[in-house]
Amino acid sequence: MTQKQIILTGDRPTGKLHIGHYASSLRSRVALQQTGQFDEIYIMIADTQALTDNAYNFDKIRNNILNVALDYLGCGIDPEKCHIFVQSQVPELFELTAYYMNFVSVSRVSRNPTIKEELKMRQFNSQIPMGFLNYPISQAADITAFDATCVPVGDDQLPMIELTGEIVHTFNRLYGDVLVKPEAMLSANAASNRLPGTDGKAKMSKSLGNCIYLADDKETVEKKIMSMYTDPNHIKISDPGNCTDNPVFIYLDAFATDEHFQKYLPEYENLEALKAHYERGGLGDIKVKRFLNQVMQDVLTPIRERRAYYEKRPMEVRQILIDGSEAARKKAAETLKRVRGAMKINYFDDETLFQKTED
Ligand code: TRP
Repeated sequence: MTQKQIILTGDRPTGKLHIGHYASSLRSRVALQQTGQFDEIYIMIADTQALTDNAYNFDKIRNNILNVALDYLGCGIDPEKCHIFVQSQVPELFELTAYYMNFVSVSRVSRNPTIKEELKMRQFNSQIPMGFLNYPISQAADITAFDATCVPVGDDQLPMIELTGEIVHTFNRLYGDVLVKPEAMLSANAASNRLPGTDGKAKMSKSLGNCIYLADDKETVEKKIMSMYTDPNHIKISDPGNCTDNPVFIYLDAFATDEHFQKYLPEYENLEALKAHYERGGLGDIKVKRFLNQVMQDVLTPIRERRAYYEKRPMEVRQILIDGSEAARKKAAETLKRVRGAMKINYFDDETLFQKTED
């Protein structure tokens, strides 16, 4: 039997999604969905994972399920081609997590660089919730429950996919060829994997107030772009500028195409030419920001319009999630049946088990 090509990926519903999510993962999902190369695609709203550091913020997570679903549909994820579902509605995932927990040591999870960074940011101190430390394992369950071969994510998720590979390896060594090993798929464009905030800080984050959201209206996007941090040493237009750590140029790296240049800045052939001018001196920030605004409006307008269409039809969105969750549950239940069979914990399927008494 040839291996089916299956995608699973997802996001935590802790807020509206921003252009960092779009650049690193959402847009490649839409592109992958159009290739027709995948037999099944599952996109998960990871509410249970979001609860691992929001146990006292249940309402926030619940309220953002619709927001994330709207962002997905706005980006062009097509419910005819993808099952969009809610993690908590697929309880099989938690049973699978319980089995996997025994294959992973506390110290292995504590070495996970993404976990380490998150622990630093969250400042749990000695009060780390068990569920939080466990989420990489639950993520391995998310991925393997769907036999996912491909997981399109930002690079901060690589340690999770690596751990999933280890769990698959251990499980299959013990129980035979049961689980499918996934591959991460990163965006081909390096700038897209980690967009900085509009303030130049390394990460876009709601709490820092430095994000451009997919749901932002035209004026808000423009205002955020025109007040973006750039090279602080580029004071006079004639000063030579630095493009490397400059978020305006990093966003252009992620989003500007040669067609955008033809359309809006035909005096430059492409981004290399614009960067060369900036670095030489003589190119002002305002001009570059105006161009970035035109590029971003081109990217965001169709998303905003589709999002608004669904925002007016919340019951349609609800039905998409109900159908997606049902399909996801069916798939996960099949995998779980296979897992239980391999582990021989399907006790009541095997009468002979009750005919022997040795231990
Ligand atoms: N950890 C992801 C995030 O923080 C969300 C997520 C949960 C996920 N399970 C997943 C992503 C499985 C990819 C595959 O956004």
